Amino acid sequence: MTRLLLAIETSCDETAAAVVDDALTVRSSVVASQIDLHAAFGGVVPELASRAHVETITQIVGRALDEADVQGADLAAVAVTSGPGLVGALLVGIATAKALALGWGVPVVGVNHLEGHLASVYLAEREVPFPQIALLVSGGHCMLTRSTRPGRYELLGETVDDSIGEAYDKVARFLGLGYPGGPILDRLAAAGEDVLGFPRPMLAEGYAFSFSGLKTAVVNRVRADPGFSETEVAASFVAACMDVLCAKLRRALEEFGDPALAIVGGVAASPILRARAQVLADEFGTRLLIPPQRMATDNAAMIGVAGWHALAASGPSGPSFGPEPDLRLRFAST
Ligand code: KG4
Ligand code: ZN
Repeated sequence: MTRLLLAIETSCDETAAAVVDDALTVRSSVVASQIDLHAAFGGVVPELASRAHVETITQIVGRALDEADVQGADLAAVAVTSGPGLVGALLVGIATAKALALGWGVPVVGVNHLEGHLASVYLAEREVPFPQIALLVSGGHCMLTRSTRPGRYELLGETVDDSIGEAYDKVARFLGLGYPGGPILDRLAAAGEDVLGFPRPMLAEGYAFSFSGLKTAVVNRVRADPGFSETEVAASFVAACMDVLCAKLRRALEEFGDPALAIVGGVAASPILRARAQVLADEFGTRLLIPPQRMATDNAAMIGVAGWHALAASGPSGPSFGPEPDLRLRFAST
């Protein structure tokens, strides 16, 4: 008989719930974004995020159950993001998940948000090949990992300063384009040309990334030379980011020759990145694994998939587990 799991995600500014079965089919996925709440501040305000999660979480869980046409009593487990993220925001999801699991008499499992993003490729593909190179590009992270089997990650490199999503958001804020900046810059960039030729940071440095200097280069250039259009600035900035990401991916594909390349995290919603990654994968004869576009940004369906993986690998979490704002991936050395 199919077993069902309720997944909850509240690590940042999305209140999300999903029902995922043990064949990893998504029965429902509801995401309530707090973008309007935070837009006026140009970024996420933690206290407001926690309060908004409290206000909406029960409705969102209710909708996820309704849309999947299931009752609490039908569920086998509850999965919830335990970190990394904003501590108050995480607490709302964890307290809700624990209370529901207690009421329904089912186990609860804490999920690493990063493992959720990495598992989001299962929302597009049932058969996920290993070894694989995975690029995780989100608002909080920019890292390149290699997995020889599920749940085992080797860190190839990560950003030494800002994540790429953060750089997009800061450049967009500087240009007065709104929040979150990623989708806005990405859309503008698609209509423009790289006329400014910004630096491509750390191209020669192995698998490490840096985006803070690029952001400063954009700010300095626009201040010195305000005549360029938003489209030209966006296209030039995005081209620099994409060239860096693709150079590192190319290096990893050349070094390891793995059969799969996964691109995950909010920036993987970018049609520009999706197209560039596909070209690269085709060139290397590698399978591109990428979540459906709306499942690249934060959602609970990916937490549900990672929740099933975590239950299979190590069982439910103990009763006293709590938020881990700085949780990292556990890396193997080879
Ligand atoms: O994964 P995510 O939803 O949250 C974190 O775990 O951080 O990623 C959010 C980030 C934001 O920085 C946002 O600007 C970026 O993903 N993003 C995009 C696009 N959609 C979202 N960046 C570039 N192009 C997009 N289409
Ligand atoms: Zn995320």
